[in-house]
Order: sequence, then structure tokens, then C-alpha cells
Amino acid sequence: MSVTTVAITSDLLLGAAAPLSIHSLVDTLAGSGAEAVVLAGNIGENDSQIAQFFKKIRLAVSCPVAFVPGNQDLFYRNETSSESLLNNHLPALCQANGIQFLPGNPLVVGSLGIVGSMAWYDYSAADPTAGLSMEDHVQFRQDRNVPEALRIDWGWSDQEVAGQSARLLETDIGKLSSQPAVNRILVVTHFPVFDWQIPRDPGNRLAALRNAYEGNLNIGRQLMSHPLVRGVVSAHVPHGGCRVIHRDPLAPIPTWLVGSSPDSPGFVLARVAKPPENS
Ligand SMILES: [Fe+2]
Repeated sequence: MSVTTVAITSDLLLGAAAPLSIHSLVDTLAGSGAEAVVLAGNIGENDSQIAQFFKKIRLAVSCPVAFVPGNQDLFYRNETSSESLLNNHLPALCQANGIQFLPGNPLVVGSLGIVGSMAWYDYSAADPTAGLSMEDHVQFRQDRNVPEALRIDWGWSDQEVAGQSARLLETDIGKLSSQPAVNRILVVTHFPVFDWQIPRDPGNRLAALRNAYEGNLNIGRQLMSHPLVRGVVSAHVPHGGCRVIHRDPLAPIPTWLVGSSPDSPGFVLARVAKPPENS
């Protein structure tokens, strides 16, 4: 076989999504022929619903299933803080249900390495034409009730979390690059990392500010320099799509957006081609 197929879904928002649409998604993924399935964040906020979904997908497919947390998965609940969700609770929930918690634990399927990152936002996706300052972003966060301002209770700044995301991703790519069996890498991020993935509304200052919380373009630039990276799939925003990014002299990278809404969970089948023998 000359390609490896990975199915990526995200933003299922269990509890808000129509149950039939989730059943249908699982059936579709099970019949897709994918050699791995990645759940790219914003799965839900209720542990029993998440565990039930993990069991359902685990039973439906025989291939490895991995999870990348998104912002809503980290909204604190009951006695569980956002920091504990990220570092302990969600990894344990994954482990208990046979799901690989991907950040820090890259997956290898044949000769394809798969890494996952939240790619937490660092405001680099803000519309550059709007001339916004850091003070504008911080004020917007408070004034407009960006959900994270109310529902994330860790003590880190967004820049600190974004930095942690970037460093862990770099480490994971390094781990895979040192494995002789791995000849290409697929990256799955919760937040978008390329400009085309960011929903723009030129001239709308509010939209320009909101963009700051919708991606991490510095991580996208970081990925462009890695020769083994041969595909990037991102989530979080409701529209889907695919675009090839050229990076002469390195091989071009196909990039995707999953594109999910509560009534219509999206998925991407990323077909990552094996490189020619001499590359
Ligand atoms: Fe999200």
C-alpha cells in the first residue's frame, strides 16, 4: 500500500450534539478503512459521556485510537481543575478506555508517525491588518467573555501554555524523527496553525480580536521546517477544508480542517503518501 489513511474527528460536543449524528459518525469511521483514528479535541465536558464515547469508538474500530485535548475538554468541573484535567484526569480517562493520550506519546502506525498538540493560541492568529496590541487582546478576553477566561482555571498565561504546546510538539517530532522505521509524520492539532484555516472578516475589529483565540500560527511556521512532516490536520473552527502548502525545497504539506458542528460532526480522512525510496 502506498498511503496510510488516518481518520480525524473533533468538536463533537457530546451532550450538545444530536446522538444520531454521533452514531452515524462512529459507523462511518468504522467503515473508513482508517489505520488509526484521532479525536482532535472538544469532545465533551461530561466524564461519563466522554467515557461512553471512548468505549463506543474503541469497540467499533480495531485500529489504534488517540486523543488530543481541546479547550473545552479542559473547562474545570466539579473538583477537577483545568491543570489536573490536562496532566492527570484526561490521560487517565484515556488509559482506562484503551485510548492513547497523544501529546507526549506519539503513535507509530507502520512507517507513519502521528503526533498531537493542543497548539494553544498565542494571539499570533489575530488579524495583522487590525494593528492590535497585547493590551487589546487581554481587554477583549475580559470584556467579551472568551470562554477560557471563565472556564479555564490554571495559573498560566496563554503564551506560557502555547510555549508548552510548541516545546512538547517539538520533542514529540524529535522522538519520531530518531526512529529509523518512521519515514513521515502526520501532525494533529486542536487549534488551527495556518492562516487559511483562520476565519477572517476584513475590517471587523471584533472578528480580528476573536481571531487571536482561534489559532497558533507560530506552531504552523515551526512545522514548515520539519522535512518529515507530511500532513497537518487541525480542528476547533466550524468550517472544513483542505489546502496544500508549498515549502520549496521541502515536500509540500497537505493541510486540513475537520469542520464540525453540533448537528454534523465532521471528519477528515488524511491519506499520507509514503515518500519515494530516495527522499
Ligand atoms: Fe476548540
